[in-house]
Amino acid sequence: MVDQERILTPNQKVHDNLSPEERFEELKKIHPGIQTVKLFDSEVCVKLEEKVEKVKAKALKGLYKRFTVDKAPLRNKYFFGEGYTYGDQLEQKGERKERLFPEGAIDPIPSWVKKYIIKPLEKEGLVPENWINSAVINDYLPGGCIVSHVDPIHIFDRPIVSISLFSDCALSFGCKFSFRPIRTSKPLLSVPLRRGCVCLMSGYAANEVTHCIRPEDVTERRVAIIVRRVFPDAPRLTSQQYDALCERLDRKASQVDGRGGFKPPIQQPARGLKRPLEYSKPPFGAIGQQQLSDVSSSSDDDVSEHRKDCNKKPKVS
Ligand code: OGA
Ligand code: MN
Repeated sequence: MVDQERILTPNQKVHDNLSPEERFEELKKIHPGIQTVKLFDSEVCVKLEEKVEKVKAKALKGLYKRFTVDKAPLRNKYFFGEGYTYGDQLEQKGERKERLFPEGAIDPIPSWVKKYIIKPLEKEGLVPENWINSAVINDYLPGGCIVSHVDPIHIFDRPIVSISLFSDCALSFGCKFSFRPIRTSKPLLSVPLRRGCVCLMSGYAANEVTHCIRPEDVTERRVAIIVRRVFPDAPRLTSQQYDALCERLDRKASQVDGRGGFKPPIQQPARGLKRPLEYSKPPFGAIGQQQLSDVSSSSDDDVSEHRKDCNKKPKVS
């Protein structure tokens, strides 16, 4: 069995063994921290979805920096403004180990996200002006998911804001995941995330209980755009740590072909923070990224609360 105590902080309780009264008490604490607002009508959704398609196409052409794109079979992530190390990118697992990438390592927030998402949020008074400095696009295929986690509290301010596109989904709280086959326990709470809706999460809901996207709730392609504020003093990788991470991932990618087989090493350019942030072109374009994600999704270490994609299959026995 996975040692739950080792991978969950004491307050990230697993909620499948609570009595009805205890569940009710938890719900009373979670509710005030969740707000959903229908902000974008279908016409605006179509426009935003077209923009997402352009991001996807650009990523496929390998035109983004290395850590802007994180590909996995059932979900891709595109980081803008800021990005951080998580999952297999972490050398040491555990709480508060995530680090922002060095400044400039990630592509900037696209102007359409600022204009059509951040500005309307500011106008509605949902977030302060000029407060958001990071945007992530999560692109899920049917059956894709994000395992239970808390967005790192030393990196991201609250509220955490998400916009749902392409299809309706649900955000679940307090679920326990098990793998092979993937299964989830009954959520403590499941919040509908309708296309065009904004979900804001703060307080107990954001900090003291885990949230997830369950695979059964992603029945069609679904995209979430998560806009957040990274703390100005959040810990960052030094350029040496960044170089070491690149080298470690390159080594892994050159040794494994994603199916556990051996793949002959590919020639990689030398790294160094003076050159490195143009990792977009092959071998770090579409093909290189796919290799990296295949490596991470086939690895066998613990469920990390911040390794959010369910393509990873941790050992559970
Ligand atoms: C996340 C997250 C939820 C969603 O990326 O941290 O919780 O709606 N995403 O995709
Ligand atoms: Mn999250």
